[in-house]
Amino acid sequence: MTGKIAILPAQVADQIAAGEVVERPASVVKELVENALDAGARTIRIALENGGRTLIRVSDDGEGMTRADAELALARHATSKIRDAADLIGVGTFGFRGEALPAIASVSRFQIETSADGKTGTRLDVVGGQLEERADAVRQQGTTITVRALFFNTPARRKFLRAPPTETRAALEAVTLLALTRPEVAFAFASDERVLLDVGPAKSGIERVHALWGRELADTLLPVAHREGPVEVTGFVQRPAQAKPAGRKGYVFVHGRPIRDPFMVRAAEAGYRSTIAPGDRPSVFLFLEVPGDAVDVNVHPAKLEVRFRDKYFVEHVVQEAVRAALAPLEAAVPVGETAGVRFQVPGFGGSGETLEIFSGEPGSPLTPDTRHLTPLFQVFDTYLLLQHDSGLAIIDQHSAHERVLYETVMRQLTGDGAPAQRLLLPLTLEFTPPELEAIERHRELLLRVGYEVEPFSGRTVVVQTAPNPHPRFDAARCLQELVADLAGNRFGGLQNRLERFAATFACRAAIKAGQRLDPEESRELVARLLAATLPAHDVHGRPTIVQLPKEELERRFGRS
Ligand SMILES: Nc1ncnc2c1ncn2[C@@H]1O[C@H](COP(=O)(O)OP(=O)(O)O)[C@@H](O)[C@H]1O
Ligand SMILES: [Mg+2]
Repeated sequence: MTGKIAILPAQVADQIAAGEVVERPASVVKELVENALDAGARTIRIALENGGRTLIRVSDDGEGMTRADAELALARHATSKIRDAADLIGVGTFGFRGEALPAIASVSRFQIETSADGKTGTRLDVVGGQLEERADAVRQQGTTITVRALFFNTPARRKFLRAPPTETRAALEAVTLLALTRPEVAFAFASDERVLLDVGPAKSGIERVHALWGRELADTLLPVAHREGPVEVTGFVQRPAQAKPAGRKGYVFVHGRPIRDPFMVRAAEAGYRSTIAPGDRPSVFLFLEVPGDAVDVNVHPAKLEVRFRDKYFVEHVVQEAVRAALAPLEAAVPVGETAGVRFQVPGFGGSGETLEIFSGEPGSPLTPDTRHLTPLFQVFDTYLLLQHDSGLAIIDQHSAHERVLYETVMRQLTGDGAPAQRLLLPLTLEFTPPELEAIERHRELLLRVGYEVEPFSGRTVVVQTAPNPHPRFDAARCLQELVADLAGNRFGGLQNRLERFAATFACRAAIKAGQRLDPEESRELVARLLAATLPAHDVHGRPTIVQLPKEELERRFGRS
């Protein structure tokens, strides 16, 4: 009697593996382009026809394969990239599973043309996993893989293909991700002969972002460079004031490998706390480096996910990295669209060298050294004009004071509380029932910022003490507005209750637009703003400072 268990023929096993690795044309494109990068290609061309249904072709100028290697590459678990399981730790190549080529070849009409020396070459034709023909071929060093009739022998899968434009878009997205992580490599992508992407070799990550999406995006990005313990985060994040509710780009890479990790993107967003308007979504491009043994890259067949040994720590570092990027005054919005604030930014891809965004002289950073700051004057009773070493800054007095108060109040709420003044004549104020309820819920927090509020009778409360954040402070009006905001949940976008309260208080207690300040007050406000952690942003996602670089003035007046 024969047993009931049989080992599946290799071809069937490959088709099953294909189910995981080769989900759709985009996954074929991703695997083939990754192979080209692993082979050291400097230029990679991708062509699709009919959304990849009829044809996917990836050509590279990488190291190529000998005939023997090309035949071996088609066998399952054949890889040149690791030799044993220990090599998986900190693996530096995209591939290591040795599954992609046999899986793709088992569900298509597949052709390899390759040469390892630019003189002799090989062509292999495979149909549904069966080697049909091997022949000599003439070509330069490198490899071209052509995949026709994808899923011709797996009709169920073929049925699941989406409309060609959708598949094309997914494939383009896969190439874009790889183009971001390898700026030094040139990429061209054409679909039905239309060129959808064509980028030459770039010197830095930001140059690549520029080539992919133009200045419009690149100019709004701030460099990230942060390390905590063994975790390093580099890349770019968008200035809070330039984030929009839709169309953001959120990319996370680990060891240069694109990963899908909504939690990491969320951690980055948490770093924006209190600088961004509710509903706005900033673009982020983050490159994480963690020690090889602190991350497992082999947890997903298409390698789209990784597992961190301490995910919460990594999320914490990402959040801090974003916060640190928003902290310097360079984060202030420049005047005009193409004023081109210049930053020193670290290169992508772990190269570590410092490169400059775009051309021009290195920008002189704004130093928060108040001795060199000359408040010029207040204009429109709303803005403070300020000269500093590298240009002119225009500060919105309300936004600035709001940021200062927000940070002060956060410290008071978590520390000893604010100094309060006992009012000589206690205030009596009337509120609506929902407002009275909001007062009740926030009594402790109100006390911490200096408001001692007691119920009196009916809808009336008595205010015994009040804060005094500035000389023009109107204690009654501030409390009324604050309580109305709290009742209406005005800062509902902020997750944390303390942050919500602090933002509301700061907004209402701050110096208002239209209030005249004397030079001493202006000077003090500016000094306190520059000492804040996130000076360039108010708590609504608006800028507090707009920069007019000196070079820009010189350019406009024809002095340079
Ligand atoms: N474009 C290419 N250029 C040179 N060698 C390649 C190329 N594509 C695949 N190979 C070789 O074929 C092997 C198998 O590829 P693949 O099935 O994708 O597995 P993996 O990438 O996991 O090693 C690779 O390890 C590599 O040696
Ligand atoms: Mg591979």
